[in-house]
Amino acid sequence: MKIAIVGKGGVGKTTIAACLARLLSRDGYSVIAVDADPSLNLAQALGIPRDVANSVPVLFDYEEFIKSRTLRPSGVYLVNPRVNDVVERFTIKGPDGVKLLKLGAVRKGGARCLCPEYAFLRALLSHLILGRKDIVILDMVAGLEHMSRGAARGVDLMLCITEPSVKAIDVALQMHKLSKDLDVKMFAVVINKASSEDDVGIVKRALEGVEVIGVIPYDASVIEADREGISLIDYAPTSKAIQCIKELKKYIEAFIK
Ligand SMILES: Nc1ncnc2c1ncn2[C@@H]1O[C@H](COP(=O)(O)OP(=O)(O)O)[C@@H](O)[C@H]1O
Ligand SMILES: [Mg+2]
Repeated sequence: MKIAIVGKGGVGKTTIAACLARLLSRDGYSVIAVDADPSLNLAQALGIPRDVANSVPVLFDYEEFIKSRTLRPSGVYLVNPRVNDVVERFTIKGPDGVKLLKLGAVRKGGARCLCPEYAFLRALLSHLILGRKDIVILDMVAGLEHMSRGAARGVDLMLCITEPSVKAIDVALQMHKLSKDLDVKMFAVVINKASSEDDVGIVKRALEGVEVIGVIPYDASVIEADREGISLIDYAPTSKAIQCIKELKKYIEAFIK
């Protein structure tokens, strides 16, 4: 199963992606967490020490390698590039057995086509989720541009995180529209940083017609965990936020079955 976590910057994508990855892995799934945000902060949220995370190469930095796998010298694209050695070379195992893959930034130089990177990525993701117990969680970059189009195409579940703000809700509505062009199988929203029932009501009304599958309260322990540089699930395993992310995980597991 492929899950893409999307939404406006700062709404809690990385925090939620990392906790879901750890929780699903504890339940026996084989989880690969893909950091598709060039700021690369998923490792910390997963609880992988910085020096360990830094030792893993960033996939999209290897432009020539990707090109050599996806393009024939004649300029013809290979639909099924070889990817079987990529996990070994580009991922690292973190707490609870979650594997981290860092995509990094695609160079946007001029009008260069990003096809090789995304063709390679899609082949890789398909290779990673051969079994029923295989889950890929993509922590996406905030924008609606290349990355969302290239990496989120065809995902089983697009989980859009929002918070009670007009801007975040607007992005959620835009993502909902975009998901239809990207062959996303299911689109759902999670309301994060809710401070009251009113907050939840306002967001739900603004998102009428869009499925809301979870609410996570504003929780000071999330900020504290960030300040200490410790993953939330290790720092505050019994916090309200984690309890709600566990509910979200149950929902996702039911969706898999
Ligand atoms: N439920 C929450 N309560 C309080 N703060 C939160 C909550 N979720 C996330 N945050 C804070 O919001 C900020 C952005 O979170 P992050 O997961 O990095 O978002 P994104 O990946 O969407 O940019 C961080 O400082 C984080 O601690
Ligand atoms: Mg993030």
